Amino acid sequence: MKAHLAIQLAVFAVTALARTEVMLPLYTPPGGIPARPDWQAAVDAIRDNQDMHFYVVINPNSGPKNTSSPGNMGSCNLWNATDPNDPDYLEHGCNRDWSTNVHILNQFQNVQTLGYIATGYGNVDRRSIEQIEEDIAEWAAWDIARTWNLNEVGNISIHGLWFDEAGITLGNRTEYLALTSYARQVFTTTGPSPRHQFSIVMNPGSNPDQNYEDDLFGMADAVVVRETCWTSVASADCPPPYEPFDYATLRNGFGLPYNELYRNKTVVLVHQVRGPPAANNQTLYEQVKGVVGLGLHSTYFTSGNWSETRLLPASVGVVAESLSRANNETSAGVAL
Ligand SMILES: *[C@@H]1O[C@H](CO)[C@@H](O)[C@H](O)[C@H]1NC(C)=O
Ligand SMILES: *[C@@H]1O[C@H](CO)[C@@H](O)[C@H](O)[C@H]1NC(C)=O
Ligand SMILES: *[C@@H]1O[C@H](CO)[C@@H](O)[C@H](O)[C@H]1NC(C)=O
Ligand SMILES: *[C@@H]1O[C@H](CO)[C@@H](O)[C@H](O)[C@H]1NC(C)=O
Ligand SMILES: *[C@@H]1O[C@H](CO)[C@@H](O)[C@H](O)[C@H]1NC(C)=O
Ligand SMILES: *[C@@H]1O[C@H](CO)[C@@H](O)[C@H](O)[C@H]1NC(C)=O
Ligand SMILES: *[C@@H]1O[C@H](CO)[C@@H](O)[C@H](O)[C@H]1NC(C)=O
Repeated sequence: MKAHLAIQLAVFAVTALARTEVMLPLYTPPGGIPARPDWQAAVDAIRDNQDMHFYVVINPNSGPKNTSSPGNMGSCNLWNATDPNDPDYLEHGCNRDWSTNVHILNQFQNVQTLGYIATGYGNVDRRSIEQIEEDIAEWAAWDIARTWNLNEVGNISIHGLWFDEAGITLGNRTEYLALTSYARQVFTTTGPSPRHQFSIVMNPGSNPDQNYEDDLFGMADAVVVRETCWTSVASADCPPPYEPFDYATLRNGFGLPYNELYRNKTVVLVHQVRGPPAANNQTLYEQVKGVVGLGLHSTYFTSGNWSETRLLPASVGVVAESLSRANNETSAGVAL
């Protein structure tokens, strides 16, 4: 009995002390020099909150190249310049705006870049396994590339993958097991070395079926179990059906995994934190602190959509600082 209790306490202490980090889907083009304001706001938040680990999702074009979205002319010019002597030619990377600014992100110790992968909810007619594997291999090959400073090359290395549109049923198991084991293998054997960090984050945006939960959490380092809006009013950015976010309503199987042991691999993402109901610094902090109190892996709140980082109250800077404070207060509470 006593030994059992001691183990439970030890597990509790580890869980309670683990911090809830920043999971930032930075779906905004960087601009060049200087960076565009929405991108720069993220860089400033990273610099100002070095106690926080930032997972930063890099997403030039629903993936690393312009083949991902049929009909999308794309913002990568990787394939446009075919002459290696052309300063715009990049063997891997997107274009010099991206290499200049991803390089800046990679200089921060507290940044881990994740490459965006569209997986079509496990519908192989939408995205075949071969197409997805091409994107994975391309992310693994990002290493160094020309920046706008022609005398320099930038570090554009990628340190994990963001599997968007992840399937949530047991029928998806075979495909995603194949994709994740391919990814772990290709990231180990190609590209920059040593890579130091590699994480796979799955984003189904909702709870997986209960009978698929062990498989999904087993193959991923973190899973986005809820991606939703704060507001209760539907809009173009918040099309129904969705559940307005309130950490206090989350429970096992509803925005949290059925199995509590997976909470430290659980991510929640909230956009449209601008009301109604009214959102201000204080309501934002209550929500952020509530998420930290649940012992989750990471989170992000924004008052806009994923391409805007500067709207208040949930600008990227305020969210990062709120998370830092909430983590500090939560672990201080445990220590007392
Ligand atoms: C990428 O986009 C460019 C136009 O920006 C187009 O010319 C090229 O064919 C596209 N490449 C692929 C592989 O789709
Ligand atoms: C590139 O940046 C990553 C991320 O910070 C780092 O792990 C790696 O060592 C860097 N590579 C070089 C060659 O500096
Ligand atoms: C994958 O899951 C989605 C729902 O998330 C489902 O529509 C699809 O049929 C599944 N694919 C397979 C092969 O079962
Ligand atoms: C998550 O918590 C479990 C126990 O609850 C522990 O075994 C595991 O190491 C933790 N994982 C991380 C990534 O902290
Ligand atoms: C995000 O919001 C801005 C401002 O409301 C809008 O211009 C932009 O089109 C939106 N982007 C997406 C991807 O919805
Ligand atoms: C909101 O909180 C942030 C961080 O705590 C602070 O920097 C900012 O000034 C606050 N804004 C208002 C309007 O109180
Ligand atoms: C939280 O604690 C860290 C480490 O002590 C500190 O650097 C950081 O500034 C604190 N965060 C806030 C918001 O005070």
